[in-house]
Amino acid sequence: MNAQSNASLQPLYAAHLDIQRRHTDEALAATGFDALAIYAGAQHMQFLDDQPYPFKPNPHFRWWTPLAEAADCWIVYRPGQRLQLIFLQPADYWYKPPEVPNDFWTDAFDIKIIREASEAKAHLAGLTRCAFIGEWREEFTDWGFTGRNPEPLMHRLHYVRAFKTEYEVECMRRASRTAARAHKAAEAAFRSGASEYEIQMAYISASGQTENELPYPNIVCLNANTAVLHYQNLERTPPAEMRSFLIDAGAQLHGYAVDITRTYSQRDDDYAAMIKAMDEQQLGLCSEVRAGVDYAEIHLSAHRRIAKILRDFDVITASPEEALASGLSSVFFPHGIGHLLGLQVHDVAGFTVSPDGKQKARPPGHPYLRLTRTLEPGFVVTIEPGLYFIDQLLDKARTSPLGKQINWQQVERFKPYGGVRVEDDVVCTSDEPENLTRPAFANAN
Ligand code: GLY
Ligand code: MN
Ligand code: MN
Repeated sequence: MNAQSNASLQPLYAAHLDIQRRHTDEALAATGFDALAIYAGAQHMQFLDDQPYPFKPNPHFRWWTPLAEAADCWIVYRPGQRLQLIFLQPADYWYKPPEVPNDFWTDAFDIKIIREASEAKAHLAGLTRCAFIGEWREEFTDWGFTGRNPEPLMHRLHYVRAFKTEYEVECMRRASRTAARAHKAAEAAFRSGASEYEIQMAYISASGQTENELPYPNIVCLNANTAVLHYQNLERTPPAEMRSFLIDAGAQLHGYAVDITRTYSQRDDDYAAMIKAMDEQQLGLCSEVRAGVDYAEIHLSAHRRIAKILRDFDVITASPEEALASGLSSVFFPHGIGHLLGLQVHDVAGFTVSPDGKQKARPPGHPYLRLTRTLEPGFVVTIEPGLYFIDQLLDKARTSPLGKQINWQQVERFKPYGGVRVEDDVVCTSDEPENLTRPAFANAN
């Protein structure tokens, strides 16, 4: 991301801060606090070693600033006052100290530079009724905080995070372009016969993001491995026969994630037709992302649509409605249709239906759905229907009454391909939904 395009984010960021201040002021007033001290977090060392695990700032910190090199930094927020960034720049010759930030967002902050983490205490002293937000450390015990991640306050802040500002959506639009470019490189690597590992390297190189900068571990799988929902191995040699390729991989900009899955067939076969059918149903589901729609209903709609594909391909004999009611569709589609997306890939507050933290349960029989809220303008959600031939679930179904409604010959035919998933990121608006992913793919080369 060059300086020019970052500069174009400045007015959007300023408007984002105005909205965030309003939300935060309301949350503080409702819960009896005067200030927030948001701790980005500390480096964590590996056991018996002097090497840290990769560092990621606390998402509350990233909500205010895109600063990524932020270990032991703090943000202080007080209604009506300028934001403060307490910025740790250690005197160090082992590692390169982070540079004092100077970017499209820094005008909003008074930046206080500290050389040691403990110096933050002096800058935080004197704050009254101040809530601490972040990963707690024992050394903060006498720093004067009134609450540690107080639940009523956290509920309010999490609830409003679902409503993305135009700045946040624009970050995700731009991150979608990065991810689409990398997806195209991964597809080309697959078509050229690359191994899972080589495809992963092609993706990372084309994205320009390191593994730690990418928003989640890529899922890169060939053939039957595509039936493993969060497949994590990367085989170093290509399979003798290349049949199918599933990649679930994202990108981020200024901390905002995108989450995208594509599936490809090596040949023009029935499996390719199944991918096409899934793609069509997925677009149908994307168009269901409308203000006022209960997201759990989209999940149930996905079950019906996937059951229809299964029946059209002669894998099951039940009708879509029967397959949903009996649990047959869950044998093949055992995860949720999607989730909120933002600073976290599985963004917070998917079940929180009011600012005071009231929770809405999942529909019975759907334990992996991550979002049950009614959609409102500004929500960004994923839509990720899938169907898979998973031994563990099929073996269980075989010995149950559901087994009679499965065409086991067809199951054996499709098993070597693994599964199919198509995942886009969609913004709910007051009108037509905005699909962030499809235009990014259409324009990527
Ligand atoms: N990439 C994880 C997910 O799709 O939820
Ligand atoms: Mn995904
Ligand atoms: Mn997802």
